[in-house]
Amino acid sequence: MLRRLSPVQPDSFEFTPANLEWARGQMTKYPEGRQASAIIALLWRAQEQEGWLTRPAIEYVADLLGMAYMRALEVATFYFMFQLYPTGNVAHIQICGTTTCMICGAEDLVRLCRERIAPTPHTLSADGRFSWEEVECLGACGNAPVAQIGKDYYEDLTVEKLSVLLDAFAEGKVPVPGPQNGRYSSEPLGGLTSLVEYDSGRRQYNASAQLAVDHHDTIKRIDGTEVPLLTPWLNTKKPASEAKAEAKTDEK
Ligand code: FES
Repeated sequence: MLRRLSPVQPDSFEFTPANLEWARGQMTKYPEGRQASAIIALLWRAQEQEGWLTRPAIEYVADLLGMAYMRALEVATFYFMFQLYPTGNVAHIQICGTTTCMICGAEDLVRLCRERIAPTPHTLSADGRFSWEEVECLGACGNAPVAQIGKDYYEDLTVEKLSVLLDAFAEGKVPVPGPQNGRYSSEPLGGLTSLVEYDSGRRQYNASAQLAVDHHDTIKRIDGTEVPLLTPWLNTKKPASEAKAEAKTDEK
């Protein structure tokens, strides 16, 4: 996929004093003469500051690190994590279009983005709040189709579920990331089909997830807030010990 810089660019860029101090701290992590190793961290911080990675920002970072502009441009254009076009100020939707997600409906998700956000990728919606693009495998193929929104993954999507997510973002909400079909992670949706007698038995088929729930673990969301982690299967919040006892009773 061709990755080019946006033809529309601001005149200049510079880090805020706090970000500049942070960047200088990053540069001290590397031996003298190897400051270029901090390129990804600094480009990422520049992107967080502006919302996208501008050409002046890439050149500013290259100057800071004593690198040729071309070297910094190579890094910025190689990684999908760097947004080379302005992004929506509410959410930028990255739809995985690689094989597994494509087979599981990614093309329909792209169609929805074209209809609801903008007809072409890397284009702001009419109100400037949303943008979208198709990306390569996000590494969550077991939960296809997947979209990355901000730093979070929203998985097991359908057109309807993505539409609901877009509505929620538009209302200023931050939907809980992860599978959107009731799964906790990538366990079988209908329950175990093999190793059913292993460890905790039929009822409790994801021991580590159950343990996390028992310990009141939380999920951190895109805005930094946390929500309780709930195992959706069986709609139960029973402690693992209880579920295990029930499973044993069932086996008798
Ligand atoms: S193919 Fe979409 S996450 Fe791998």
